[in-house]
Amino acid sequence: MPNIVVVGTQWGDEGKGKVVDVLTPHVNVVVRYSGGNNAGHTVVVGREKYVLHSIPSGILHNGCRCVVGCGVVVDPGSLIEEMESLVQRGVTLDGNLFISKNAHVIMPYHPALDRASEAKLGARRIGTTLKGVGPAYVDKAARVGIRMADLLDERLFREKVEANLAQKNRLLREIYDAQTFRVEEILGPYLRYAGWLAPYITDTALLLNRWIENGYSVLFEGAQATMLDLDHGTYPYVTSSSTTTGGACTGTGVPPTRIHGALGVAKAYATRVGSGPFPTEMQGAIAEEIRARGNEYGATTGRPRRCGWFDAVVLRYAVRINGLDTVAVTKLDVLDQCETIRVCTGYRYRGDLITEFPEDESVLAGAEPEYEEITGWMAPTTGAKHEGDLPAKARRYLERLEELMGVPLCLVSTGPQRDETIVCDDSPLPRWFPGVRASLL
Ligand code: GDP
Ligand code: IMO
Ligand code: MG
Repeated sequence: MPNIVVVGTQWGDEGKGKVVDVLTPHVNVVVRYSGGNNAGHTVVVGREKYVLHSIPSGILHNGCRCVVGCGVVVDPGSLIEEMESLVQRGVTLDGNLFISKNAHVIMPYHPALDRASEAKLGARRIGTTLKGVGPAYVDKAARVGIRMADLLDERLFREKVEANLAQKNRLLREIYDAQTFRVEEILGPYLRYAGWLAPYITDTALLLNRWIENGYSVLFEGAQATMLDLDHGTYPYVTSSSTTTGGACTGTGVPPTRIHGALGVAKAYATRVGSGPFPTEMQGAIAEEIRARGNEYGATTGRPRRCGWFDAVVLRYAVRINGLDTVAVTKLDVLDQCETIRVCTGYRYRGDLITEFPEDESVLAGAEPEYEEITGWMAPTTGAKHEGDLPAKARRYLERLEELMGVPLCLVSTGPQRDETIVCDDSPLPRWFPGVRASLL
């Protein structure tokens, strides 16, 4: 049974939630390996819309085991809210949800530090989600972080909170001129959260490896995306975790020798939320039009997403960094009314043509996209389920993307619903998940 990583190839919000939801019936386990509640993964089932922040998108299929891996940072209050809202909507969590003992906890001073740091950066701010995710990973790397298991040991938890507050309060007061915290105001709610979450906290690396030994199939659900990866993204305008496929191993405890493939998710265009370079960013009316048609507003913060054209340089880079076997293209329908569609095939920098993604901040800042123009199909693709249902020009657009990326397409998404999905013939997907085509008809 294959274990496959699903990873974002651009700047996030590619539709990973939908792709994971569509593939879940063909696996036994879905595990989130990075990020925290900065993520917003939307899954639409009929008239119901679910936005998942920390819980894997597999949770909507009863019987799928969902794991929050050790690479995730958990805000317990926000996680409990998400759990309660799912339970109210009829989702079963008991026996289906497992949270790593080693996942780090987002403490109340983390969002406070996130806000204070962004305010201090002013024009150079990263445009974070202000969820405290970055500061929580800072503490993890500094070896002062608090892990889920620590929540279950009241004495140890108190000691760690006291030690942390001694330092964080000075930072908040003296560097940022911000409000400080008292130990008791944190301990009260966090110990209540601990009681609530205790039944779900466990050694998930052990569980995952045992399940794999027993023949279970695992989907690794990426959050954020390649260009937001701490090492490989557009640093410093990135998130603070390893979002690429490498993170699937460190963020779960499943070794690379047990992972069999990687599936990238890409929008048929591109979006970015927050600051940082975005070479193919659209300006003016076309940006407004795509934002409106694609409903491009952040699922976590509600911010309007910056919109741009498909960037094949970024995609080739994502194929390389993640070792992608195949790519799922989403939101094709959003381009239905575009007379001309642009695809970036390279960058021009000081007169030279660059075809490999430049990691240097200064090169990227001065890189001008070189576009190829493709005639739009100007016809509805919404809800198309077969490649044959697509207008010839839409098929040609997809073939061109495939050619530029160098890997086959596996899925084309033509709407938010589960069955608004085309399974492509020449991809590893039907081999990995033999029932996938039938399940979407
Ligand atoms: P994620 O963070 O990668 O899971 O993506 P988000 O959920 O943040 O953003 C993707 C949005 O596009 C969600 O609102 C989805 O319901 C929606 N969506 C996904 N696939 C399609 C599609 O093919 N067409 C359209 N129109 N919307 C889609
Ligand atoms: P999903 O999983 C899009 C962006 C923020 C900001 C940067 C750092 O839904 O694709 P952070 O709060 O992580 O420190 O912010 O990363 N960002 C996302 N953008 N989708 C996401 O998640 C994101 N998670 C973080 O906007 O630019
Ligand atoms: Mg999202």
